[in-house]
Amino acid sequence: MMDVDKDTIIDEIKHLKEKHNAVIYAHYYQRPEIQNIADAIGDSLALARIAQNSDADVIILCGVNFMAETAAILCPDKIVICPDITAGCSLADSCPADKFKEFINNHPGHTVISYVNTSADVKALTDVVVTSSNARQIVESFPLDEKIIFGPDRNLGNYINSISGRNMVLWDGACHVHEKFSLEKILNLKKQHPDAKILAHPECRKSIILVADKVGSTQALLNYAIDNEANKFIVATESGIIHEMKRLAPDKHFIPAPPDDADCACNECSYMKQNTLVNVLNSLRSLSPRVIVDKNIADKARIPIERMLNISSKLGL
Ligand code: 13P
Ligand code: SF4
Repeated sequence: MMDVDKDTIIDEIKHLKEKHNAVIYAHYYQRPEIQNIADAIGDSLALARIAQNSDADVIILCGVNFMAETAAILCPDKIVICPDITAGCSLADSCPADKFKEFINNHPGHTVISYVNTSADVKALTDVVVTSSNARQIVESFPLDEKIIFGPDRNLGNYINSISGRNMVLWDGACHVHEKFSLEKILNLKKQHPDAKILAHPECRKSIILVADKVGSTQALLNYAIDNEANKFIVATESGIIHEMKRLAPDKHFIPAPPDDADCACNECSYMKQNTLVNVLNSLRSLSPRVIVDKNIADKARIPIERMLNISSKLGL
């Protein structure tokens, strides 16, 4: 896209946003040009919170489908739009609601804690939703002997079990992006840059978590990179976060951790990159594609999401 076209598109986006009292909220993994035009950017917890408190009439949620669904569930009176509504999530897809229901039925007496990376149908079967920013603290808010099912991310579940002394029953799901970081390539990078700190999202495999200096949500990794005295970071999460890291710490050096299976130096979530400036513009022109969640499901799914937001606020997260 030529620069002049890009500027024209951005001007029309601004004009239509005003006309419709619309806002653009974007996840840190979105394309840089989307992050640059967003009214707010954040991790999945922040986006849910910002949507819940928004006074806009129209929310353009630039993320993947489950994030837009969460906003739609929290804001039933608003028009919530996902510019590319087909932007899925391999982790959410790894947990079909009918199979999850069977899993729950096979573990009677268990509290069901689900990661936000799930469909509205799975959230409707859940007692409390969590994100990577609050999962540990919410799990630990239950008594040590509470029987808990945790889904769908086995890596995040194993990580919380290991640091909190729990023995939660785990659903066997994973994110195809975070699972494919190469330990060997990360250790090679560390040899070349011994002063670099390794940052890892808890959706990464255990072998990566064990070598990380900091494990946390995208927001926690961002905060660490800014606050830590180190100057270099090897970043084992989707490489889109590096845009905001560089913006907030322009003098620091961020090295994307490479995946196993490609010559490519960084690891991108293709779903997250489905949103473009052009489809953001089109969605503002047509006020579509609108994210509609069945009312029955939305009313059930809202309870564990609001529970998460309330517990998080009480815990100061
Ligand atoms: P965050 O909770 O860190 O935003 O992660 C969401 C996600 O999709 C990670 O892949
Ligand atoms: Fe889903 Fe993984 Fe993409 Fe996050 S990075 S949206 S968990 S597929």
